[in-house]
Amino acid sequence: NERTYIMIKPDGVQRGLVGKIIQRFEERGFKLTALKLVQATEAHLEQHYADLKGKGFFPGLIKYMASGPVVAMVWEGLDAVKTGRVMLGATNPLQSPVGSIRGDYCLAVGRNICHGSDSVESAEKEIGLWFPEGVNQYISALEPWIFE
Ligand code: GTP
Ligand code: MG
Repeated sequence: NERTYIMIKPDGVQRGLVGKIIQRFEERGFKLTALKLVQATEAHLEQHYADLKGKGFFPGLIKYMASGPVVAMVWEGLDAVKTGRVMLGATNPLQSPVGSIRGDYCLAVGRNICHGSDSVESAEKEIGLWFPEGVNQYISALEPWIFE
C-alpha cells in the first residue's frame, strides 16, 4: 500500500486547522499510521527541504518551519502520494482550487499551512526522517469498502 508524509506546518497548528486537515484525510479514505506534534530543529528541517537549498526563500522557509510545532503524519492508501498532493492544492495558494486545503485555508506561498510528499521516493525518505522509530501497522476494517 502506498504511503505519504503529510505535515501540518506551524501556521496550520497556530490557526487551529489541525482537526480539519486530519478530517479531510480520514474522510477521503486514507489510513493514519503515524502522528506526532514536534518542534523541529533548523538542522532537521534543512534535511527535509534539502532539495531547495540554494533557493532565495530557503532561509525564510527554514525559519517559518521552525517557528512552532508541526504535526507530522503518515497516511496510507491507494495513490496516497498523488491524491495527497491534489488534496493540498498548488504550492502557491493563488493557484490552488477552492476545495483544496490550501485553496480553502490560506493566501500566501510562504504560509501555505501543509506539506505533502511529491513522489513515492521522497515519501519514503521523509517518513524515515520524521519517524525513525517506525510507523504503526494495523488492519483497517473499512479498506475493502474503499478500494479493491
Ligand atoms: P511542500 O509540500 O511544503 O514541499 O510544498 P511544495 O512541494 O508544493 O513546494 P516546494 O517543495 O517547491 O516548496 C516547499 C515550500 O517552500 C513551499 O510549500 C512553500 O512554503 C515554500 N516556497 C516555495 N516556493 C516559494 C517562493 O517562491 N517563495 C516563498 N516565500 N516560499 C516558497
Ligand atoms: Mg515539496
